[in-house]
Amino acid sequence: LMSLTVTSVRLTGTKYGCGGGGCGACTVMVSHPRVYLHHTIRHYSANACLLPLCQLHGAAVTTVEGIGSTKTRIHPVQERIAKAHGSQCGFCTPGMVMSMYALLRNKPHPTMEDITQALAGNLCRCTGYRPIVDGCRTFCQVQSSALQLIPEKPQLFDKEEFLPLDPTQELIFPPELILMAETGNPETLTFCGERMRWVSPASLEELVQLKASNPKAPLVMGNTNIGPDIKFKGVLHPLIISPTRVMELFEVTQTPQGVWVGAGCSLSEVRSLLQKLVPQFPEEKTELFRALIQQLGNLGSQQIRNVASLGGNIMSAYPNSDLNPVLAAGNCKLSVISTGGRREVPLNPDFFVSFGKTILKPEEIVVSVFVPFSRKGEFVRAFRQAPRKESSFATVTTAMRVFFSEGSRVVRDVSIYYGGMGPTTVSATKTCAALVTRPWDDETLSRAYDVLLDELVLPPSAPGGKVEFRRSLTLSFLFKFNLEVLQKLREMVGLQFLNVVTDVLPEKMQIQPLPREIQPSLQEFQHVSKDQSVQDPVGRPIMHRSAISQATGEAVYCDDIPRTDGELFLVLVTSSRAHAKITGLDVSEALRLPGVVDVITAKDIPGKKVRTMFGYHEELLAESEVSCIGQMICAVVADTRAHAKRGAAAVKISYEDLPDPVFTIEEATEKSSFFEPRRVIRRGNVTEAFETVDQLYEGEIRMGGQEHFYMETQSMLVVPVGEETEFKVYVSTQWPTSTQTLDIPSNRVTCHVKRMGGAFGGKVTKTAVLASITSVAAWKTNRAVRCVLERGEDMLITGGRHPILAKYKVGFMNDGRIVAADIEYYTNAGNTVDESVLVEKILLHMDNAYNIPNLQGRAAACRTNLPSNTAFRGFGVPQSIMVVENMVNDVAVVLGRPADQIREINMYKGPSVTHYKFEFSPENMLRCWEECKVKADYSARRRAVDQFNQQNRWKKRGMSIIPIKYGIAFAESFLNQAAALVHIYKDGSVLVTHGGTEMGQGIHTKMQQVASRELRIPPSKIYISETSTNTVPNTCPSAASFGTDANGMAVKNACQTLYQRLEPVRQKDPKGSWESWVNAAFFEKISLSATGFYRGPDLYMDWDKMEGQPYAYFTFGACCCEVELDCLTGDYRTVRTDIVVDIGRSVNPSVDIGQIEGAFMQGLGLYTLEELKFSPSGLLYTRGPSQYKIPAVCDVPLRFNVYLLSDSHNPHAIYSSKGIGEPVLFLGSSVFFAIKDAVAAARAESGLVGPFSLDSPATPERACLACASLFTQKIPASKPGSYKPWALNI
Ligand SMILES: Cc1cc2nc3c(=O)[nH]c(=O)nc-3n(C[C@H](O)[C@H](O)[C@H](O)COP(=O)(O)OP(=O)(O)OC[C@H]3O[C@@H](n4cnc5c(N)ncnc54)[C@H](O)[C@@H]3O)c2cc1C
Ligand code: FES
Ligand code: FES
Repeated sequence: LMSLTVTSVRLTGTKYGCGGGGCGACTVMVSHPRVYLHHTIRHYSANACLLPLCQLHGAAVTTVEGIGSTKTRIHPVQERIAKAHGSQCGFCTPGMVMSMYALLRNKPHPTMEDITQALAGNLCRCTGYRPIVDGCRTFCQVQSSALQLIPEKPQLFDKEEFLPLDPTQELIFPPELILMAETGNPETLTFCGERMRWVSPASLEELVQLKASNPKAPLVMGNTNIGPDIKFKGVLHPLIISPTRVMELFEVTQTPQGVWVGAGCSLSEVRSLLQKLVPQFPEEKTELFRALIQQLGNLGSQQIRNVASLGGNIMSAYPNSDLNPVLAAGNCKLSVISTGGRREVPLNPDFFVSFGKTILKPEEIVVSVFVPFSRKGEFVRAFRQAPRKESSFATVTTAMRVFFSEGSRVVRDVSIYYGGMGPTTVSATKTCAALVTRPWDDETLSRAYDVLLDELVLPPSAPGGKVEFRRSLTLSFLFKFNLEVLQKLREMVGLQFLNVVTDVLPEKMQIQPLPREIQPSLQEFQHVSKDQSVQDPVGRPIMHRSAISQATGEAVYCDDIPRTDGELFLVLVTSSRAHAKITGLDVSEALRLPGVVDVITAKDIPGKKVRTMFGYHEELLAESEVSCIGQMICAVVADTRAHAKRGAAAVKISYEDLPDPVFTIEEATEKSSFFEPRRVIRRGNVTEAFETVDQLYEGEIRMGGQEHFYMETQSMLVVPVGEETEFKVYVSTQWPTSTQTLDIPSNRVTCHVKRMGGAFGGKVTKTAVLASITSVAAWKTNRAVRCVLERGEDMLITGGRHPILAKYKVGFMNDGRIVAADIEYYTNAGNTVDESVLVEKILLHMDNAYNIPNLQGRAAACRTNLPSNTAFRGFGVPQSIMVVENMVNDVAVVLGRPADQIREINMYKGPSVTHYKFEFSPENMLRCWEECKVKADYSARRRAVDQFNQQNRWKKRGMSIIPIKYGIAFAESFLNQAAALVHIYKDGSVLVTHGGTEMGQGIHTKMQQVASRELRIPPSKIYISETSTNTVPNTCPSAASFGTDANGMAVKNACQTLYQRLEPVRQKDPKGSWESWVNAAFFEKISLSATGFYRGPDLYMDWDKMEGQPYAYFTFGACCCEVELDCLTGDYRTVRTDIVVDIGRSVNPSVDIGQIEGAFMQGLGLYTLEELKFSPSGLLYTRGPSQYKIPAVCDVPLRFNVYLLSDSHNPHAIYSSKGIGEPVLFLGSSVFFAIKDAVAAARAESGLVGPFSLDSPATPERACLACASLFTQKIPASKPGSYKPWALNI
């Protein structure tokens, strides 16, 4: 469907973010007549990227364009998401809109639970979800009292102005399709493509015959298994059978024993069916139904569940299928059919044969699945633990069923199945044997744990890794089941059982699910002053200027630019070896394939084949040697993306491996593999100071990298103009100037950036290389060439945030004063230098908020054979500050004092000087800290947390409060400049252009506000079309949180010039209007066009003297978080977050709060969730949203309050504001420290006190293992070095 909407019918609102059903950007609504259900219409959300077009025969598809547009009328969903500030870069917005729209079509007054479920599969990398949820919340009928507005406080949006939702006004289902469905079509439908045939039989007999003659052809239902295989693994199925028109596959029949559910029913339909049935029967009969409902609620996303079929899930036989363990444990059976007849097949331990295989014969078709009623005395429970709570395959998933003899605690029958513990769903048969015929008591259970431990063993190098964790989960789940069974038994037979841990009270042992309802939250900011003109928008929460267009799908991103005549598509061919010589490159087969036009190699590059950064050369395309998997070697250009992809797959490269690739930081340091210069900074004398302190402590922390995961992947289009080597480059970049390449004079290469679908630092240097290669292709073929990376390619090629390893030694006094600290930082830079030597930013922030009199830091960028890392929001600072905060935390633990006290004792106070001799006042930092404590009600809640921990054995709460001091502007002084060009047209409209690029951060909105104030006209008269090198040359990257500071001053400068030029005409006609003045000025021959320029501060850092003024000023903040942790699974939920930030006087509070919340959530991802995994040969495993989890709606703090510090002024930036793009990302670490606090409470229960190590991210795996519960302690640790781990610890 996706290629049809985008390419053929040019409905570009549906966005392509991953292609695999994992991001939701492509969500559309499908409406299907259900002939088998009295011709009702089923409306559901689905991922267009996986929807096969042929499957939609007879269905109606509604895309974001269909529900509203700026040309006609926008839909209330579009309006509310936009006006609630839920759209920043906007790339996710159409998908969000459509998920919500589909929900409202079925339920006009949804609950919050409905909303969070509907949005669970829609990723947003910018907003942090809170504003999206708040916009959608306005559709709920019952609104929480907490949402009642406090009249005197300014609000971010006014819901009174929202259009009402009128369900009667929705699009009707096309009558011709109803007619088509009613008249029926008994014929087999066949569709033929270039390489595939799609056959859709109309009856079961035909289906059976077709499958019998084509046993290898898959039956495609939801396409959620077959689709990704075709797309990403290049699997080709010449014939596809689609049984969606075969009624028998959708029938539901109830019997006295249970219910037969058609195998073709979607998982959503199965869930609703069971939900309808449950209240109709006594509780004891629906144990299995309820376990299924629970698992189905967590399986995939709504979009996946709406299309994925029951039969498809069973037959896909995923090792970590969530359904199969429940169906098998619940004694379900299948009715299957083939030319040999019908038979019933039980879902038992023999059913799952190997990865993706069952005992069914290839020609057999599952018609229906029998789900039995449970019996009195039978309990069924299902549990799962996934890297992310929702929309994520489980790490381990399980279902357990036990059946007791009447009135007794003796086990009559039991079955236990696990997913995620091997290549198939596995039965814990021996464990069941250890339980059956025995009384359910401590002794039996304790034996069962031991048997289970021996039965479900994973080799230390098992695929998927997390071996200890997975094994411990098997035990934890059995323990959880035990707790629930005990509870039930107590109700059933009134027996008072003691628990396995006999010395603990049962109440304390109980485990309620983690809380999940997102509460309304507070966003506080200052009113503008009463004297400010109503027309002046500065300081007001103005909506992102493109939010409405983004919500209607009209906003144009790079890949939405219409195809030009003869345009080609470029696909890169990358190295499959980490360190090797290229011994052969054979492109002949690729060139023979249909549509392939050329293959671009390094030889084709005119002029320089390398770019030089910090003295190191980086080849654009590798010629003779490769130094990482994913390094670009050549590029295939063809008439379509599909042809270029096939061409790329046909390129043959031979290699000769070179010895000893370097992957980890340890390997690099051992071999002294560094990019120079390494940096050192020192104040005082740490060695001497260490002699004088009361205590010394040495620690270490490792922090993983982070993928940018901008929703729009790297995209560019290079169009040769056709004369005098002139090129137009349309590219999604933060730095247009850097794409003026190819050794062609810059005046011939015009770069245009309308907007980016997110960037976060990842679209600066890497984009320049990709644009160069695309330009070479355009130059060589003399045709327009487009390159849009697939998500997997983007993740593989472009690198991300640097992982680090830091070691520290700290000396402190017993009263909590830190006297000396010596910290070494090593970053994993990857195979090229990029900007990695800017590790200096790490050293400049190593003090964070603390005045440590003797401080020494050393930083080195390790050169390894992994893809090169690059800038990412905060560039090194989030890693640097993490280390010092971890160190301060350790000091607190050693001293046995609350961490916030140690932080306070050591904070800068009064007039201060940093370790690089920069003078500043920490007053506002201390104000943020104090205000955060007050707003968060820190002391009272701390006590409540301690009380909670005393009352709960297996769940713990943790709390932390963290400060930040973040330097703004570029230490490389020349980058602190900006320019703008402002035109006033004769009709009074104004066009502003400046050097900043719009990536969602709202820079254009702010510039519009600046121009509006300076020209004293409403923002509606001002337009910003794009950023381009022919209007504003020599731009600096939009980075370092400095975009508004710099460009705002340039726009201000240009506008002031124009305003002054208009002064004579204004004086002549003081009562005239803006239009009349402009018109008069034209006739007076006054220039209505002006440039503006800003010469930023002269910043510097002298590394020899170890001193400087590398920043213009500091942005300050503090954040308090509380989490609840399930110690048995490591699962956690942030229950509350309070952030106070000093951003001076905000130019636009809604945009700034958006940056704060978005950065916080990105930080939460960095420190607690996102994990990049590399194979032992250096291949990135995590190349899409299925493997790499960024925060989703389920990760939003349940209460998420943001307060902008009042009465703060900043003389160093426009209108007294402060840069805010990056600083708050670090505050996400307060979730990490809250988790660590909760873990410490859990460890204390096991008698473990004192500092302990917890690396970042604090994933459920790490948190669970660190809790050192009695189950994790049972798992024997594998001896390091005795096996090859599945993934590297880079
Ligand atoms: C992003 C994403 C997230 C997911 N998350 C989860 C998760 O958390 N938990 C989980 O358990 N699963 C998850 N899945 C897997 C998903 O549930 C399965 O892919 C889905 O259930 C398969 O059903 P389908 O109709 O789409 O199968 P299809 O892709 O259409 O077909 C899959 C296979 O089943 C066979 N088949 C289908 N119907 C029949 C039949 N009636 N008789 C015989 N063979 C048949 C086909 O021949 C084919 O080989 C996820 C998938 C995606 C893409
Ligand atoms: S593009 Fe379809 S889900 Fe990501
Ligand atoms: S606004 Fe959601 S990804 Fe940018």
